[in-house]
Amino acid sequence: MGEKKQLKLGAFLPGPGHHVAAWRHPNAQADGGLNFQHYQRLAQTAERGKFDMIFLADNVAVWGWSETEALNRLGQIAHFEPLTLLSALSVVTQRIGLAATVSTTYNEPYHLARKFASLDHLSGGRAGWNLVTSATEAEAKNFNQEKHMEHTTRYGRAKEFVDVVTSLWDSWEDSAFLRDKELGIYFHPDKLHIPNHKGEHFSVRGPLNIARPPQGYPVIIQAGSSEDGKHLAAQTAEVIFTAQQTLEEAQAFYSDVKERVVKSGRRAEHVKIMPGVFPVIGKTEQEAKEKYDQLQELIHPTVGLALLSGLVGGVDLSSYPLDEPLPNLPETNLHKSRLKLVADLAQRENLTIRQLYLAIAGARGHRTILGTAQQIADQLSEWFVNDGADGFNIMPPYLPDGLDEFVELVIPELQRRGLFRTEYEGQTLRENLGLPRPENKFSKVAHEERPYM
Ligand SMILES: Cc1cc2nc3c(=O)[nH]c(=O)nc-3n(C[C@H](O)[C@H](O)[C@H](O)COP(=O)(O)O)c2cc1C
Repeated sequence: MGEKKQLKLGAFLPGPGHHVAAWRHPNAQADGGLNFQHYQRLAQTAERGKFDMIFLADNVAVWGWSETEALNRLGQIAHFEPLTLLSALSVVTQRIGLAATVSTTYNEPYHLARKFASLDHLSGGRAGWNLVTSATEAEAKNFNQEKHMEHTTRYGRAKEFVDVVTSLWDSWEDSAFLRDKELGIYFHPDKLHIPNHKGEHFSVRGPLNIARPPQGYPVIIQAGSSEDGKHLAAQTAEVIFTAQQTLEEAQAFYSDVKERVVKSGRRAEHVKIMPGVFPVIGKTEQEAKEKYDQLQELIHPTVGLALLSGLVGGVDLSSYPLDEPLPNLPETNLHKSRLKLVADLAQRENLTIRQLYLAIAGARGHRTILGTAQQIADQLSEWFVNDGADGFNIMPPYLPDGLDEFVELVIPELQRRGLFRTEYEGQTLRENLGLPRPENKFSKVAHEERPYM
């Protein structure tokens, strides 16, 4: 692969932190999901650390919904709608990217195009859209469905969804709006394009009722790692979030996806692959271990089991003996790649159900690394220089401490090694990620047809 500059970093920020028992930690902001001052502080800390972006995940249902008694022990179930929160955070930050998940299965392209264009204008070009197809039955039940849409169908819908959204963002050319009070001309008629999309899933005439986003398109992120997921990512994604446990798995995913990107006519360096990492930082390795153990002791068994059940396709594991191995599980229509990752982990390390839910309670299958700032930097650097990643989605165990420690201890170590920026390169998220600004697909055609412009 070409010369790699420096690694990219996302700060993945669920209110109280990532560990399933984070909210119970004495230092954690238990009401973090609904506390704006908390988020303002996190966003400004991540910006001080020169992170590329903050990232807010989302589901259109209560997260981790399960009929079990675990629900009232979960600390991440009530939180702001992410785009509403990012709009507010765009006012109290200047350079950091603002990325959030919006599902293509339970939204309409026109609404989404408008909201992300607005966030991109509000923030001066810092918006990022994490495109997911959703992966829980609970969400289907909130949108007139009994069953979640079939996996391949919903990825097909997602591809068309992206095509419609980018066409809507291209409704107006960058310099369309003249606002000439003298002539009474508000926009240049030749620079308006009507998408008139008619497809299998959508019929959207357009145009969009907001000017072309400052970045051209907000940065498109994708988080599916199945066959369908990788296929969609190769065609549409500029950033790919993924969960990988070992360097070998990460390298296999990295080279596979980069190859697909090139096969789909794009440049490999125009896609940044950023696995999730759950770092537990200590002044000594022992201190990091003690911090991790303290969190693990806060896990209530029903919560651990409910989380694991959710990740293995919603199979209720409560009737299986906890100190026995995971039973063979049926194919899932939900998180395909995550089920495989968790089942492979159980097999590779010969884990019982109890040991498995303890192993995924922190990072939900993403990689967990413990140690001093130097040891954490070593492990991040190893994946970066060996083509396992272009950067990482940092998942602090509990907040705000987990992010504060990463910014105060690990970032300076990465900067000292020349692996991470000391100043932002540009104004927009796409400039800082080193991604090109997309041309307007309509004006490209138009210009070819009317050379005088
Ligand atoms: C870092 C990361 C963040 C994710 N964020 C969300 C999210 O916010 N909402 C969601 O429904 N799914 C989220 N997912 C799950 C993916 O959308 C997808 O369901 C999962 O990766 C399985 O995809 P697959 O069926 O293509 O394997 C995330 C996945 C990763 C790796």
